[in-house]
Amino acid sequence: MNCFYYFKDKSKSNRQISAPELKEGHKKLSQFSGAEPERVTKSSCSSSTSYRGIPELYEEKARNLRAFSFTELKHATNDFSRLLKIGEGGFGSVYKGSIKHVEGNGDPVLVAIKRLNKDASQGHKQWLAEVQFLGVVEHPNLVKLIGYCASDDERGIQRLLVYEYMPNKSLESHLFEKAYDPLPWKTRLEIALGAAQGLAYLHEELEVQVIYRDFKSSNVLLDANLKPKLSDFGLAREGPAAGDTHVSTAVMGTYGYAAPDYVETGHLTAKSDVWSYGVVLYEILTGRRSLERNRPKMEQKLLEWIKQYPPDSKRFESIMDSAFVGQYSISGARKVAKLADSCLRKSAKDRPTMRQVVERLKQIIQDYDEENTAEKNVDAAENDVVEHEEKMNESDSSVLWKKRMEHLEKLGEHVESASRRRFMILQRINVP
Ligand SMILES: Nc1ncnc2c1ncn2[C@@H]1O[C@H](COP(=O)(O)OP(=O)(O)OP(=O)(O)O)[C@@H](O)[C@H]1O
Ligand SMILES: [Mg+2]
Repeated sequence: MNCFYYFKDKSKSNRQISAPELKEGHKKLSQFSGAEPERVTKSSCSSSTSYRGIPELYEEKARNLRAFSFTELKHATNDFSRLLKIGEGGFGSVYKGSIKHVEGNGDPVLVAIKRLNKDASQGHKQWLAEVQFLGVVEHPNLVKLIGYCASDDERGIQRLLVYEYMPNKSLESHLFEKAYDPLPWKTRLEIALGAAQGLAYLHEELEVQVIYRDFKSSNVLLDANLKPKLSDFGLAREGPAAGDTHVSTAVMGTYGYAAPDYVETGHLTAKSDVWSYGVVLYEILTGRRSLERNRPKMEQKLLEWIKQYPPDSKRFESIMDSAFVGQYSISGARKVAKLADSCLRKSAKDRPTMRQVVERLKQIIQDYDEENTAEKNVDAAENDVVEHEEKMNESDSSVLWKKRMEHLEKLGEHVESASRRRFMILQRINVP
């Protein structure tokens, strides 16, 4: 799904710094003067003098990003072979590639290489934002940036990003593409939890708050164990400084996921991400995209459609992904839908924080595990009863059998030899 970039005039801005111009060839990122992503107006209540933003933190922290030459990445992708292309988004194409270890020894490392489209006007700013944010952040639920390439030469401007390779595509692919087996209920819950933990880290655990601004299922990548990692930090922004309520900025994001209050006012807060998270929770429950133009009119917008099926209603179950075929917990699904509804509250301040979402999801997963264990115990107890009954029946019949044998033996003394032989045969069959 494409991003939208429509600009609302926020001319009050006092920190707007234009994107840096690249004039030379291959440069280290730290050499870009004024290397700052699109800066924005912070709602004015306070002004901090010792403020350290992402660029300052980047200078301090991001020492181990590798600066690749364009030739290196060309070799890594077999000259950007179409056979190695693994995706395409608003920024450009993504290729699978392999690079040498920093030390030059050991097995080659698999990577994903994103190459900026030549005509992407927002491209450079997004590229720079991504390098700076991913250079600073570090969390198991955020994709790892290995390095970058910036080179200007006769071929034109080249901007590339080199990430750890995520072999299981995105949550979007698993939810909506027929080629994949449907994700089990518990896996969906764990993916939701991991993604929430990634957002909570960005909102609350860094020196500066980071608003992700483009949370959607295609930006949740999955590793070999289906562990989720957020990718695409091109639209990420620093949150408001202490004492400020929001950041005013050009409205950017993806249709179907962006919070309506942000779209209307351009006021960005961490709660804008919480809204987008709520949308993805409903995608996880229903197996439907936030916008599907090929459905009947009433069903095209996921959030409008699900309103007719509140979590506590009897009809609720009919919105669940049909791929589940009964393998989910209905009570758990209702809890997840309620959580999603709280993320989708009209007023941003009424939405939970991502930390609260994480706590709630952990509880839902724990309830599910307990429900499952209780169910398994009931099944085991039922099996014990059945086994016991079977044994009882067996022993009943062996008692009967013995009695019958004794009776026949007595009779046998008087019957003819043919009947006797038949009796002996019967006995042989039944004696273990
Ligand atoms: N690190 C990675 N490892 C493996 N595959 C990746 C990686 N990064 C991206 N991809 C693949 O490339 C696809 C396109 O990613 P990209 O972020 O460019 O576009 P998008 O998320 O679909 O759209 P948008 O540009 O709106 O974010 C992803 O869906 C994924 O399948
Ligand atoms: Mg993406």
